[in-house]
Amino acid sequence: MCGIVGYVGSKNAQDFLISGLKRLEYRGYDSAGIVTLAEDGTATLLRAKGKISNLEEKLAKNKRNDKIGIGHTRWATHGEPSEKNAHPHQAGEIYLVHNGIIENYKELKQQLKEHEFKSETDSEVLAALINSFYKDGKHPLINAVVQALKLAKGTYGIAVVSKLSPDEIVVARSGSPLVIGVGHGETMIASDASALLGHTKQAIYLNDGEVAMIKKDSVEIKTLNAEPVSAKVEEIETNLSAIQKGGYDHFLLKEIMEQPESLNETLRGRVNTEDGTVRLGGPGLTENQLRQIKHLIIVGCGTAYHAGLLASYYIEKITPEITIEPVIASEYRYRQSYIPEDSVALIVSQSGETADTLACLREIKKQGVTTIGIVNAIGSTIAREVDGGTYVHVGPEISVASTKAFTSQVIAMVMFGMTIAQAKGVRTSVLRPYVDEIAKLPEVIRETLESVHEKVKDVAGKYASYEHGIYLGRDTAYPTAMEGALKLKEISYVDANAYAFGELKHGPLALIDDRFFEFALLPKGELYDKAISNVQEVLARGGHVIAVTNEKKFDLPVDDVINLTAESEIFAPILMNLVSQLFAYYMTVAKGYDVDQPRNLAKSVTVE
Ligand code: M6R
Repeated sequence: MCGIVGYVGSKNAQDFLISGLKRLEYRGYDSAGIVTLAEDGTATLLRAKGKISNLEEKLAKNKRNDKIGIGHTRWATHGEPSEKNAHPHQAGEIYLVHNGIIENYKELKQQLKEHEFKSETDSEVLAALINSFYKDGKHPLINAVVQALKLAKGTYGIAVVSKLSPDEIVVARSGSPLVIGVGHGETMIASDASALLGHTKQAIYLNDGEVAMIKKDSVEIKTLNAEPVSAKVEEIETNLSAIQKGGYDHFLLKEIMEQPESLNETLRGRVNTEDGTVRLGGPGLTENQLRQIKHLIIVGCGTAYHAGLLASYYIEKITPEITIEPVIASEYRYRQSYIPEDSVALIVSQSGETADTLACLREIKKQGVTTIGIVNAIGSTIAREVDGGTYVHVGPEISVASTKAFTSQVIAMVMFGMTIAQAKGVRTSVLRPYVDEIAKLPEVIRETLESVHEKVKDVAGKYASYEHGIYLGRDTAYPTAMEGALKLKEISYVDANAYAFGELKHGPLALIDDRFFEFALLPKGELYDKAISNVQEVLARGGHVIAVTNEKKFDLPVDDVINLTAESEIFAPILMNLVSQLFAYYMTVAKGYDVDQPRNLAKSVTVE
C-alpha cells in the first residue's frame, strides 16, 4: 500500500526521502513523489508514474540541498496511476502526502470551490480542506490540520509541510500507521519503521486520533481535542540486514529459505521438551480462563486466514470441547454472527495493519470478547489493540507473498491450542508428539528445503507454460492446498484454485484437460488411501498430476513426484507448503515476472 516518509534536520532531505521510499517499495505502489523546501520556502516538487527509478531521473535534473521534505509511494485507490494523481498534493502554500481513504471526499469537495483540483484523488481534497483553514499562514499549520481532520471521515496517515513554515512537518493518523524516528538534531517520519533503519533506533508510534508537530529537535503530540500526549519512545527491534536480500536474487527466496531460523525465533523459550509442555506468556490468560474457552474464532485475510484454517484442523484434534470458527476478516466484519460466551478470538496478521482484520478486532472487542494477536510486526496497530498476544518474531517479510509468516503463524496457533489443552487436562501422551515434532520442526524444514529444492525447480520449469493449476488436499492438506494456490496465483498469475479432494466429483473434475495441472498434496495418514483414489480419478481423465508426498511406497503413474524424505508425521502439510512456495517462486522466475512486487498487490493492505 501507500508509503510515507519525511525528514527535517541538517542532511540532504532529497537523499533521505528517496532511500526511504526505496525501503517502502515492497509495500506495492504505482507512482511516487517528493517535495522538499528550501530555507526561504521555495518548494521542489517531483512526481513520477511507475518505479522510483523514474522519480530519480527527474531528481537528477533537480538536485537541491534542502533540509526538510516529505515523500510518498502511491497505490491507486481514487484515480488511475499517473503523475497528476501522485502525491504530494499541493493546495495554496501547503503540500500533503496521505495514506488511507477519505470517504466523504465528494461532499467536502463541493464546499471547496476556491481550489482548482488537478487530480482525481481524495487526498487532494484533504490538502485543499487543510488549506482552507490555513488561510495562507494566518493560523498555525497544526491548527488547520486539526480543523480539517475533524471534518474528514475515513482513514488517514498524513504528513503536511508549508512553504510559510519550512522548519516543521505536521503528521496525524487515524487507521493508517505513522512512526516518528527521533535522531540527533534530526527527526524522520515513515509509515513503516523499516524506512528509518540505519538512521535511528528510537521511534514514537503515533496512535489513532493523534497529531504531531515535528521539528528537527522536537516532537509535540496532542489529540485532535487538543489534549497533550506524552511521547513514548520505543526501540526499533529490526536490523538493517533483515531488510536486505543477503545474496539471494529475490526477497521471496530469502524468506522461504530462512524458515528454519524464523521458526526457531517463534519457538524460542516457548517449548519445553523435558516436561512435554508449551508455554506462551503473551496471551496473558490464567489457567482458569484457558480452561473455560469453548469457542475460538480465528480471523485473518489471505495467507493469515489460511494459517488460521490449517491451525483449526490441528487444534480440534488435540483440544476437547471446543468449536473453532476460522473466518475471512472482510466477510466477518459485516456478518451478524452470534459470538457465544466463553469465546476467545485469535487475530492473525503478519503486518498487524490489515484494515479488514483490524475492523474485526474492534468489532469483536466491542462485544466483550477477549482478543489474542498472532502478529509479526512489533508495535503494529493490531499488536497494540489486542488484549494479549503472541508475536511470531519472523523478522521483516519484504516480499508481497507471505511465506515464513505462514509457517510460524500456524505453529504459534497450534501452541496456543496446546496451552488450552494443557489447561483442560489433556493427557501428556496426547500432547507429547506435538511438542516433540514442533521442537524438531526447524531442522526438518531445513532438511526439506535442501532436499527438494532442485527437484522443485526442475518441475516448475517443466510447467512454466501452464496457465491453470488445481491444488488438491484432504484434512490438513486442504488448507495447505489453498495456501499453495494463493501463492502461485499471486506471483506467477497462473489461474490456480484449491479444492478438497472430496469435492472434485462435485464439479471441478469437469476442468481436467491438457490446459491444467493438478498439484496433489498427499501426506501419509488416515485419509491417504482416500486421497489416492481421488488422484486415480484425475489420472483416469487424463490429468497432469504433480504429487507431493511423504509416502515412500507411492507408485501411481503421475507425471511428477516430489518426495519428502525428512520426517514429520504431524506437520507434513507444513513441509508440503515449502514445496508449494518454491514451486510458485520458480514458476514466476521462469515466466519472468516481478517476484517480490506482483502487479496490483500491496504488502500491507491498509484500505478496506
Ligand atoms: O499482513 P496480513 O497478514 O494481515 O496480510 C494478510 C493478507 O493481505 C496477506 O496474507 C496476503 O494475502 C499475501 N499477499 C499473501 O501472500
